[in-house]
Amino acid sequence: MYHKILDQFPPGFLWGAASAAYQIEGAAQEDGKGPSVWDVFSKIEGNTFMATNGDVAVDHYHRFKEDIALMKEMGLKTYRFSIARSRIFPQGEGEINWQGFMFYDQLIDELLKNGIEPMVTLYHWDLPLALEEKYGGWLSRKTADAFVEYARVVMTRYRHKVKYWITFNEQNVFMQLGYRLAAHPPGKRSFKEMIEANHIVNIANARTVRLAHQIDPSYKIGPSFGYGPSYPFSCDPDNVLAAMNADAFNNDWWMDVYARGHYPKVLLYQLEKAGLAPTILEEDRELLANAHPDFLGMNYYHGGTVQVNRFEQKRKSESKQFDKTDPYQMSTANADDLEAKLFETAKNPYLKTTQWGWEIDPVGFRIALRKMYDRYELPIIVTENGLGAYDTLEKGKVHDTYRIEYLQSHLIEMKKAITDGVDVIGYCAWSFTDLLSWLNGYKKRYGFVYIDRDDESERTLERIKKDSFEWYKTVIAENGRNL
Ligand code: BG6
Repeated sequence: MYHKILDQFPPGFLWGAASAAYQIEGAAQEDGKGPSVWDVFSKIEGNTFMATNGDVAVDHYHRFKEDIALMKEMGLKTYRFSIARSRIFPQGEGEINWQGFMFYDQLIDELLKNGIEPMVTLYHWDLPLALEEKYGGWLSRKTADAFVEYARVVMTRYRHKVKYWITFNEQNVFMQLGYRLAAHPPGKRSFKEMIEANHIVNIANARTVRLAHQIDPSYKIGPSFGYGPSYPFSCDPDNVLAAMNADAFNNDWWMDVYARGHYPKVLLYQLEKAGLAPTILEEDRELLANAHPDFLGMNYYHGGTVQVNRFEQKRKSESKQFDKTDPYQMSTANADDLEAKLFETAKNPYLKTTQWGWEIDPVGFRIALRKMYDRYELPIIVTENGLGAYDTLEKGKVHDTYRIEYLQSHLIEMKKAITDGVDVIGYCAWSFTDLLSWLNGYKKRYGFVYIDRDDESERTLERIKKDSFEWYKTVIAENGRNL
């Protein structure tokens, strides 16, 4: 679809930026906070780059006012952040730690005072450790009960203050990396356990969506999903079918449950035959079918290219190795794995990559928006999109032209998708300040604001505006008119 003139962004478009508690807050043991699974996992040698962790992170816990002043200067309309559950429930359930709430009370009030709409993620991967130890984490329905209770307490407290809620961040990523590929906590390698744990998260998600609407019918709630479209390596019909399989395996398996209320039938049938289907109770079906999100959150970094897996033949293209730094379009080389029968990943010769090997594919963003909207017909909030790069501070400045180019090219494609007819209501760049990359430490920077720290030292933690800060400020002020 070619457009001579692009539509304008709608008035009130939510220009924003995003973060997650563990990646920015620090204060890991302050004011009664309990440990999360990440507090432990990140400190085990070999789990993260140079054992980097969030003990101090970028010290947002103590510097949030300074950070919000910068957001205000930039003109942000919304700020997406997550609540560290173990600040509220140090033991995962039971007694509430009111001191933990005080931080978020102040944060939210400060945002509102500065005219910035808070967008709250209830779960960005930092499960309270106590729930992992007591119940085996997401493998138990008791963990879903504890989540719903936490969500109830938080969503009740912030009535009249918060309108936008995100249930789970990238369920596909924390499930695959946590339960199957052992790169995130709880560090398991079991496809079956992933499917079971994932079903329990689906239950928690659906219950929370319904609860939100009971607490306040004006609440807007949805999940944030790590979405990437699958391309066939060629027009060989077998490769086209492989791309359909990959979409079902990487996207529809989650998105259909959120938005259609049931698992995609073909893939479910394959899992049943392989003895890998989730244990679905009768009441689960009713629940999933009757939880309706108000929007879908899309985290877009890139998609992937696939081809049919002809096990016996020499591969047609250099196969993309699974690299634990790239959580999207996951597959393994193991021929016994279910997806090996469905597709194998391939390198896309048309796309350049970032310094961490992630494909840079702005057109894929438009494709992703089109596909998600066509299939589910719900408004979309882009809850993450950004470039991880090594930045250099020279004479007090960071000239991150490459980040501006990256973001600009993605925003243009998003504008085209809006012109195509997709209902996009907000865009949160990842991230506002530099922050901890879960597995890659502090040198993989995403922010508009440089933080003076690295993997070895916390240094001054000073905040320094990058060139991209001024650029995004202008984009917001012009409501994206001159992209
Ligand atoms: C998303 C997560 O997967 O990608 C973020 O929601 C994360 O929390 C971002 O930081 C970038 O990933 P990475 O591995 O480059 O930090």
